[in-house]
Amino acid sequence: MRGIALSGKIRFLDTTLRDGEQTPGVSLTTDQKLVIARNLDALGVQVIEAGSSITSEGERKSIKAVASEGLKAEICCFARANQADVDASLACDVDSVHLVVPVSDLHIERKLKSNRQAILAKAVQVTEYAKDHGLIVELSGEDASRADLDFLTSVYNAGIDAGADRLCFCDTVGVLLPEKTGEIFEVLSRLRAPISIHCHDDFGLATSNTVAALKAGAAQAHVTVNGLGERAGNTSLEEVVMVLENLYHIKTGIKCEDLYPLSRLVSRVMGITVAPNKAVVGENAFTHEAGIHVHGLLADTSTYEPMHPEQVGRKRRIVLGKQSGKASVELALKEFGVNTTPEQLLEIVSRVKELGDKGKRVTDADLQAIADMVQSSQKEPKVKLHELTVVSGNTVIPTASVKILLNGDETLEAGTGVGPVDAAINAIRKAVSGVTDIRLDEYHVDAITGGTNALVEVWVTMAIADRKITARGAGADIIMASVEAVLEGINRLMLLEERSNG
Ligand code: KIV
Ligand code: ZN
Repeated sequence: MRGIALSGKIRFLDTTLRDGEQTPGVSLTTDQKLVIARNLDALGVQVIEAGSSITSEGERKSIKAVASEGLKAEICCFARANQADVDASLACDVDSVHLVVPVSDLHIERKLKSNRQAILAKAVQVTEYAKDHGLIVELSGEDASRADLDFLTSVYNAGIDAGADRLCFCDTVGVLLPEKTGEIFEVLSRLRAPISIHCHDDFGLATSNTVAALKAGAAQAHVTVNGLGERAGNTSLEEVVMVLENLYHIKTGIKCEDLYPLSRLVSRVMGITVAPNKAVVGENAFTHEAGIHVHGLLADTSTYEPMHPEQVGRKRRIVLGKQSGKASVELALKEFGVNTTPEQLLEIVSRVKELGDKGKRVTDADLQAIADMVQSSQKEPKVKLHELTVVSGNTVIPTASVKILLNGDETLEAGTGVGPVDAAINAIRKAVSGVTDIRLDEYHVDAITGGTNALVEVWVTMAIADRKITARGAGADIIMASVEAVLEGINRLMLLEERSNG
């Protein structure tokens, strides 16, 4: 097993379930570990570090469950260099141990109150013990990036003589620099066993350092999904894979189109939100603001996209608002497979700008709904108001009665509310409740002019299930403006629903 320059075959040890679980505030159940492990296996990583066997009874149960799942990947667990940890790992039926010995004087003397000779002897003794019990051993130097390189090499050589199958170099506190990493791995990759690189991202260099190590001969990269891990996290799986695939043109064997779905799964299960600007898997990684980039994208997506979103299981998103021009709206519509005439496009652009002017973010559902409305403007709306009567005052409960035309049939309904607007909206919602279940999520009113006869503008956010749209009504009568906004919202949502039901 040699690195990029030699064979191009890189292995991945994913430690989302061990170092990733050390993310502050994260603790996984057996079922959660299982679901992540199955998906990592399907993605194509060679080794899954399922946990740390000495931690607890529950952790051992989880590791054992992952090991018994019959996955293709080698199932590994973390063990310190002592017999008890190896015994606990054996009880979990894993294939391998990630056997860790501190190698910097800082860790040996200050943390362990020990010395180099004692540590080396322990590494040898426990490696032999693990090998005698049938385990694959990856002997790991903790804090290797701050260790004396001669001592580290002697630990690795003694470990290989004791039977270690692989070695690992840990940049425990993320202090490596890419050029230094390259120099170190030029030396270490000549040892008699393949060596892994394990990086942390304290200075944002984990991916660069990992790639530098692979280029200089490291055989395996330790990674986590979404770069989760202690403090600033570990090397992110998706970043290293895409750098190798797209920038070094190396086939990693990883199913790249599953990277984003896996990122979402891990984020959900671990309860850790991915930063929007995170490379490859962040919300904004394939999102384009309206503007000049959109012209470029329309001509050729590679002008502003260094990789195709589909390659990592994603879709392009165009964010629309008041600055959006024809090109952005057209591109966004194309993403939904909607084609328009030039006149329809102009009308859609003007409605998008109108929403943007109100400070609204134009959602995908908004855009689809606007396009539907414009394209079917020849059609009669599904819900039309025929009559509205509202009674309000200081001695009565505000009550409204409506007569509406719903899919061509006249329907009568009444509703009460905390005020006349509320009563009118409740009556309308009751009238349509038999055919659709619409929520009113937000209601906002602005006076456009002054005085008691002010022109008012009403904005509502309405939804069916997770499909949300914003609609508007305006007029001198606040009740009628509200009803107009609600009816527009209902009509647009019903159109969307009809379209998605085919
Ligand atoms: O970062 C590190 O040093 C580790 C070891 C304990 C393996 O995760
Ligand atoms: Zn680590």
